[in-house]
Amino acid sequence: MPAELPSRDDLQLVRRVLEGLPGVGGAQVLLIADGSEAAVSALVSDGRPPPEPSIPTSPPARLGAGGAHVVPGCLAAMDRAAVMAIAHTLHTVGSFCDVVEEGVEEGAEKAADALGAVPRHRWIVRRWLAALASENLPVPPSRPELARAMRDLDAARQELGYPAGMGRFFQAALRSLPRLVRDEITLQSLLFAGGGTSTAQGNYRDNLISRHLNRAAAEAVAARAPARVLEIGAGVGATTEAVLAAVGEVDYLFTDVSAFFLDAARERFARHPGLRYACLDINAPMALDERPFDVVLAANVLHNARHAGRTLAAIRELLAPGGALVLIESCVEHHLVSASMHFLMSPRADALLPGFADVRQGQDRVFLDRAEWTRQLAAAGYRDVRVEPAPDDPLAAAGQYVFTAARGERHPDPAPLLSKAAEALPPHLAPREIHTVDALITDRSHRP
Ligand SMILES: C[S@@+](CC[C@H](N)C(=O)[O-])C[C@H]1O[C@@H](n2cnc3c(N)ncnc32)[C@H](O)[C@@H]1O
Repeated sequence: MPAELPSRDDLQLVRRVLEGLPGVGGAQVLLIADGSEAAVSALVSDGRPPPEPSIPTSPPARLGAGGAHVVPGCLAAMDRAAVMAIAHTLHTVGSFCDVVEEGVEEGAEKAADALGAVPRHRWIVRRWLAALASENLPVPPSRPELARAMRDLDAARQELGYPAGMGRFFQAALRSLPRLVRDEITLQSLLFAGGGTSTAQGNYRDNLISRHLNRAAAEAVAARAPARVLEIGAGVGATTEAVLAAVGEVDYLFTDVSAFFLDAARERFARHPGLRYACLDINAPMALDERPFDVVLAANVLHNARHAGRTLAAIRELLAPGGALVLIESCVEHHLVSASMHFLMSPRADALLPGFADVRQGQDRVFLDRAEWTRQLAAAGYRDVRVEPAPDDPLAAAGQYVFTAARGERHPDPAPLLSKAAEALPPHLAPREIHTVDALITDRSHRP
């Protein structure tokens, strides 16, 4: 029987204790996983105004040379096909009219019931209804319309350079929506069909958008001429490959939360002597013995953080003075993603902790937007934040960005706070970690 989690009141008590300690202006307290147990984590600020954000000295580069003008049209066709498939799925269980007549809120529960959606995937059904509303689809598509949308999706997939395996994956996911929401099949079984990673590589490497973003991230890493790099959530190694090609000889710690990806990478990068491998979970204490690193790279992984600000602050502590974080993140929830990859983001049925504990809490979304990441980086103690591509670059239609941010220096050692908090609190509430940050983001109202 798992131990009970600390209550809201318990966490308030920890916050009050921390805010009573000398030098603490404000505190934010949350739960993280420490092995199979929940542990208390805290962010504290000294209450001084945060440093002025620094203005980048040069404008963001246009990343999208070489055919990126097709990106907006292709993505629109792919999203349209996803909405058609969602509408068709709801129609087959008799729920399409509920949605159109009753709106997103009321229709969502009925649709999830009609589909037999398991609790952990019901947020995805709510997203689907919002997608339908935003696309203004008054009647379900006919079979020929759906078939045409699927052909358009495949044409767009080809134009963006995704391999045929990705086409099969998208079609399989869109055809399997009812079985996916019921947990009768998993998205992993479609994405890693036969136990291989080639389809996933198509999603993160072998396409026009990822090629531009991985190259930009690799250039940002190489520009720092790092001796030591830590990659977090390195997965199928799509960004790793671009970075290794750009940096030459380097001490490179390839990490992921999943042993499956670490094993695949050991085989794939066997000819790279500088690579070492380790398991690292961004939602657990991240104190690595072998820090500091000149660059930390995190491509398409930080949206898995339970609390983005806490994970960014923990990463900052792994950086050497003058070190930098290079981040690739999706900042727009495309409909096709809501009908495919988002199934990877539902909480596990046996999850120790409830979902997101930051600005995304209770909002049926996974991604922070561009402005939210910029704000989170500044609050967590990073300086000189750069974001690419620029909004007027056609590549920006993908809603994926490369963020580069330097480690700020204004952060006292939290060790004395840890010991004082431990003296004042019962052992199960004593923070397992405290991160000092420039500012706390406590509101959920922030919208650009
Ligand atoms: C979308 S994939 C990105 C893969 C790779 N970075 C790329 O872009 O080619 C996300 C990766 O993050 C990893 N991941 C998910 N949750 C994580 C966590 N809590 N800590 C560390 N890695 C995590 C997954 O195992 C997966 O490999």
